[in-house]
Amino acid sequence: MKKIIFLLLVMSSLTLAAQKATLPGHMAKKISPDLFGIFFEDINYAADGGLYAELIQNRSFEYSPTDRKGWNSLTAWEYITEGFGYGKISVDSKSPVNENNPHYVILTIEDEGREGIGLRNSGFDGIVVKAGEKYDFSVFLRQLSDSPVLFEIKLKTPKGELIGETSFSTHSQEWKKYGATFTAAQSSDSASLYVMAKSKGKVAMDMVSLFPQKTFKGRSNGLRADLAQSIADLKPKFMRFPGGCLVHGDGVGNMYRWKNTIGPIEQRVDQKNIWGYHQSAGLGYFEFFQFCEDMGAKPLPVLPAAVSCQNSGGTWSIGGTGQKGIAMKDMPDYIQEVLDLIEWANGPVSSTWGAKRAEAGHPKPFNLEYIGIGNEDKITPEFRERFKLIYDAVKAKHPEVTVIGTVGPAPDGEDFDLGWKFASEEKVPMVDEHYYMDPKWFLKNGKRYDSYDRSKSKVYIGEYASWGNTLFNALSEAFYMTSLERNGDIVRLASYAPLLARAGHTQWNPDLIYFNATQVCPTANYYVQQLFSTNQGDLYYEDIVNCANDSLLAASCVTDRKSGDIILKIVNANKEPRNIPINLSRFKGINLKALCTTLSGAAEDKNSFEKPNVISPKTSQVKVGRKFVYNAPAMSLSVVRIKGYLK
Ligand code: AHR
Repeated sequence: MKKIIFLLLVMSSLTLAAQKATLPGHMAKKISPDLFGIFFEDINYAADGGLYAELIQNRSFEYSPTDRKGWNSLTAWEYITEGFGYGKISVDSKSPVNENNPHYVILTIEDEGREGIGLRNSGFDGIVVKAGEKYDFSVFLRQLSDSPVLFEIKLKTPKGELIGETSFSTHSQEWKKYGATFTAAQSSDSASLYVMAKSKGKVAMDMVSLFPQKTFKGRSNGLRADLAQSIADLKPKFMRFPGGCLVHGDGVGNMYRWKNTIGPIEQRVDQKNIWGYHQSAGLGYFEFFQFCEDMGAKPLPVLPAAVSCQNSGGTWSIGGTGQKGIAMKDMPDYIQEVLDLIEWANGPVSSTWGAKRAEAGHPKPFNLEYIGIGNEDKITPEFRERFKLIYDAVKAKHPEVTVIGTVGPAPDGEDFDLGWKFASEEKVPMVDEHYYMDPKWFLKNGKRYDSYDRSKSKVYIGEYASWGNTLFNALSEAFYMTSLERNGDIVRLASYAPLLARAGHTQWNPDLIYFNATQVCPTANYYVQQLFSTNQGDLYYEDIVNCANDSLLAASCVTDRKSGDIILKIVNANKEPRNIPINLSRFKGINLKALCTTLSGAAEDKNSFEKPNVISPKTSQVKVGRKFVYNAPAMSLSVVRIKGYLK
């Protein structure tokens, strides 16, 4: 009998531990200090034509019909023969600048006429320049004729007004980089670059670049400043890159291989972007890691699990069967590639790959802590075999790095179940859950992680979003995020997806930040992410905010031990205000003046380029007390921050 009672007691306490992530009112729970981060994928022109500040489209003449039907090496370029000049243009690949970058243009100038012959590029929907700012032009040329070829480079407005110009003559029959810096004489949102040969001869041309000097933090080969700043303003604790489906690619040959994306830009490997366009790899691993460091975010690279996307060769679907694996004979090399990344990021400059990082300008290690292996892969025997080989090798050589596994593209279903089973068997420290759902799902599933088994893998919610950018969508996410804080003991990381979308070039909606050539438009969802990520804590308290009996109210209370602040987040997804009792009496001697930042409006409100500030946070001072009632506005997220309690 005693045995049975004992067993029952053990079973009920185990069940309780597994089912309740809650705590007695007087206790604080340690939660992940890295909880809210960002997900970057080159989707919707997020990299080229987006965050990567290069102003020339198809600078290395590598566009091709593989990227998109109808595209070729001369896409985004116009052959110009004004002023009675004539000659020939062709594309060649016999002796390129680098074998990784095979295509280049040959110009044969038979008669230069008045204006010469050459090429015009208008960037991504027009080149944007600002008066007084500096732009670095460069090009690789190889003189193929005996005589030098004179070049005139001009940046012009659509009306033909001159913004900047330079000229030089070729002087080498080998590939050579020529360059100049323009100071823009006037601003334009739709300038074009003209690269004109003005004397008879023959010349090969590649890597035509125009780069603003004013990039985020002034980095060379850097990032579009306004866009990078809006991302940095999220103060993410980590950044995942380079995707998404982009990681595992459209077939084995299209996987994202990190080594192809480092080193001098003319030596990087361009390739088809799985989202139906082209990736230059100008924004590569070095730039990703540098951006993380510049924002104070931990880098979280995701590498392919040596299998391609299950939707390879087809259209996006959850059950795709086009997955292909790297041949088993090639796996040792592939595993080495994964290990080399860790050495590249963390190794000393005396190591082979650490030396390459130093060569790129970063002798100090990047302190890589997390690495994802696989993205939403179908959990097949091929996947399992390859994942295990990679995982075992990383675990053995780098136990200090947390490996994140993958559990499919949905919050449940076959790959989710099989992925979790596999991760549990292999004791993978963390898994990457993804879900894009209706806002009502987020409102209904706030208890999802309360019953997760605390002894299993930790969770990274690598991609999530409700289907839309209205305030209601954003609040449904905020509602859910309070539950992520409550479960921050097992949900270690979470990132909304996708991050960026260039208007007119989107493959996926909704996104967190929309932009065009000149404007950046953060969504309501962005402000929710920002309010959570700039108000993270590392201790969670139960039973402070009383949301009882209202399924459209949610709240959390955390403290941040660095600032010493108490932070309350209160979500009211009702169409009317609500009075919410708050009991702070467990905190003795609190500051009675607090700051309250609120996001509110009508459920269907959303930001747009025309009206960018329909939804944006407003901050005011509020009075709090040991016990007080907070009047939460209709359709709102409120963040109440009480300064310096723990100091
Ligand atoms: O975020 C957009 C896509 O959604 C990602 O590439 C993929 O991982 C998911 O299916």
